[in-house]
Amino acid sequence: MKTDKTIWATPQEFLTARHPDRPVAFFCPEVLHNTARAFAAGFPGLVSYAVKANANAAVISNLHAAGVTAYDVASPVEIDLVLAQAPGAMLHYNNPVRSKAEIIYAVSKGLQSYSVDSFGEFDKLAAALPKGCEIAVRLKLPIKGAAYDFGEKFGADAEKATELLKRAAAAGFRTSMTFHPGTQCHDPQAWVSYISACADVARDAGVKLERLNVGGGFPAQRSGRVPELPKIFKAIKSATQASFGADAPELLCEPGRAMVSDAFSLAARIKSIHDNGSVYLNDGIYGGLTEFRDLDTNHRFSCLSPSGETRGGKPIPRVAFGPTCDSLDKLPEPLPLPANMAEEDYILFSGMGAYVGATCTRFNGYGDILAVTVNMLNTQTPRT
Ligand SMILES: Cc1ncc(COP(=O)(O)O)c(C=O)c1O
Repeated sequence: MKTDKTIWATPQEFLTARHPDRPVAFFCPEVLHNTARAFAAGFPGLVSYAVKANANAAVISNLHAAGVTAYDVASPVEIDLVLAQAPGAMLHYNNPVRSKAEIIYAVSKGLQSYSVDSFGEFDKLAAALPKGCEIAVRLKLPIKGAAYDFGEKFGADAEKATELLKRAAAAGFRTSMTFHPGTQCHDPQAWVSYISACADVARDAGVKLERLNVGGGFPAQRSGRVPELPKIFKAIKSATQASFGADAPELLCEPGRAMVSDAFSLAARIKSIHDNGSVYLNDGIYGGLTEFRDLDTNHRFSCLSPSGETRGGKPIPRVAFGPTCDSLDKLPEPLPLPANMAEEDYILFSGMGAYVGATCTRFNGYGDILAVTVNMLNTQTPRT
C-alpha cells in the first residue's frame, strides 16, 4: 500500500477530488483509538493486539499512542515492526509453530512469552528459552460459534494440553494457557466452554495458571449484525471466577479483527457493467475482498457516484467480478447494488481494517491499494 500524506475529511471528499482508479483503503485513527479505549475499559484484564490482523506501521503506532502496551506477534518481521513502532511494548509470541532460528531470534530480542501445542515444539522451546519465560499451552475444543474454526491447525486436545502443562511446570517455566475460539465469533458461550475446559486441564495437571489468554476471535461488524463485546467480556469474567475460584489466573486477550476492523473502509470502483448486468470491480477476491470468500458475504457498503452522491433506488443483485483474468475472481454472492448505479461509481465497504492488507495479492498487477488517512469515516446504514 502506498501512503498519501494528506489527511482528508472523509472518504467522499477524497473520492470526489481525486477520482482514483485504483482501490483505496481509508484509515481513521480516531476510530482505532476509540476501539482501543473500549477494549481497555471493558475487558477484565490485559489487552494485547494481534498484529497479523493489520501490520500497517501507522496502526501499531496509533495503538501505542492509545495506550496499548502488549502485542501478539507471529514472526520475526512482526517482532521488528512492534519494537520499532511501540518501544517498550510487551510482546507475546503466540504462533505455536516456529523454526529454531525464529525462536533464537525472539529470545535475542528479549521476548518472554510463547505458546505451545505440541511436544516437538515444546522441546524446541525448552532447549532455547531462559528459565522464567512464560509458556502458554494452547487448548483446542470442537466447538462452534465462529466464522471458521482454528482447531484443525492449532491447539492440543485436553489430554495433550495436560501433559504439556506438566512438562512446562517441571522445566521451571511460568505456566499459562491460551485458546482461540475461531475468528469472528459472536457466541459468548464459546469462551465460557474454553475457560471451563482450561480450568479442568490445569486441575488435572496439578498446575496453577499464572495467566489465561482468551484469544482473539472477538467479532467486528461486517453485516447488519452488531457485535456485543460487553456481553462477551462479562461472560469471560464470570466464567473465570466460576471455573477457577480462588485460583483465578490473570486474564489476557489478543483481539485482531475486532480491534482494527472499523478503523478502515475500502473503496472499490465499478470498472464495467456487462451486457448481462454483472459488474466488474477494480478489486476482488485476490485483492482486498478476499474475506468475502470465507466470511459472511452481506458486508455493509454504500455506493457513491464520482461526484459523491449516494446512489439509491431498489437494490438489484448483481454478480460481481474482480479485476483479474481468473474466473474464480468473483464475489460468492451477488451484490445488491442500487438501481441507479453506473460505471465509474465507487462501492465503499466499511469495516475493512482486518486481514485486507495481509491477504491482498498483486495478481495481474492489481491489488495496489492506496492508503489514505481521514478524519472521519462516513456513517453508513447497516444492511440487514
Ligand atoms: C494466536 C492468535 N491470536 C490472536 C489472533 C487474532 O484473531 P482475531 O483476528 O480473530 O481476533 C489470531 C488469529 O489468527 C491468532 O492466531
